[in-house]
Amino acid sequence: MENKKYLLATDLDGTFVGDQEALTKLLQFFKDSPDEVALVYVTGRHLTSAQTLMSEEDLPSPDMLITDVGTSIYHADGLREDPYWKARMQKDWQPERIVEIASAFPSLNKQKLPDDRRVSFTLSGDVGAVNEFKKALVDESIAHSFIFSSNRDIDVLPLGAGKGNALEYALDRYAMNGVKLLIAGDSGNDWDMLSLGHPSVIVGNAQPELLEMEPCENLFHANEKCAGGIHEAWVHFYGEHRQTVR
Ligand code: GLC
Ligand code: MG
Repeated sequence: MENKKYLLATDLDGTFVGDQEALTKLLQFFKDSPDEVALVYVTGRHLTSAQTLMSEEDLPSPDMLITDVGTSIYHADGLREDPYWKARMQKDWQPERIVEIASAFPSLNKQKLPDDRRVSFTLSGDVGAVNEFKKALVDESIAHSFIFSSNRDIDVLPLGAGKGNALEYALDRYAMNGVKLLIAGDSGNDWDMLSLGHPSVIVGNAQPELLEMEPCENLFHANEKCAGGIHEAWVHFYGEHRQTVR
């Protein structure tokens, strides 16, 4: 990844995955390009679930895989977990307390996950419970980051986690200096990585919550959905042929 001049950091569900024909075209476009494009997948899924999707959809192996809404970073070589990020995530993390506080809200159904690197819920009722839960965590001085996506998923993460922070860390440490990149997403858990200020795309099928993002020169709203939107944005930022890069 350190030697690649271009990099696509993309969410999977509803962004990279969701329109197979458009994805095949995008991958061919990258293959035909004179420079190799590094791939970083940034997903809300846990590792095994991400791997299942990657094999079901026959996705190319990424240079780096960020899972669990930015609480875990895996390197391409044998999917080795990044130890520094892992240690950072464990600091001040109190998953049991969070579960205890959430138990006062019956409409928050705890998601079944393989471990407690994040605590996530699915909402089955009024959105009011989400704000009350959020407030309860603050009142109890629990160090955390709170992410609500698709009007359904609630992720409580260690403070300083999230797709944006994890991606920024990975780019700083492992990407080429001055790499030309594109960040792509479709829902609330992508908000923070799309706000980093790098060239970014909200794909055409995005959830309404992303339409509330502040407009900015580097934030492109695609008309096309999923991988088609990524392709559209790539051409917008870097041209058809990447020799014409700005
Ligand atoms: C994915 C994950 C889920 C998470 C959601 C939002 O759907 O599987 O656990 O809550 O993304 O980040
Ligand atoms: Mg998504």
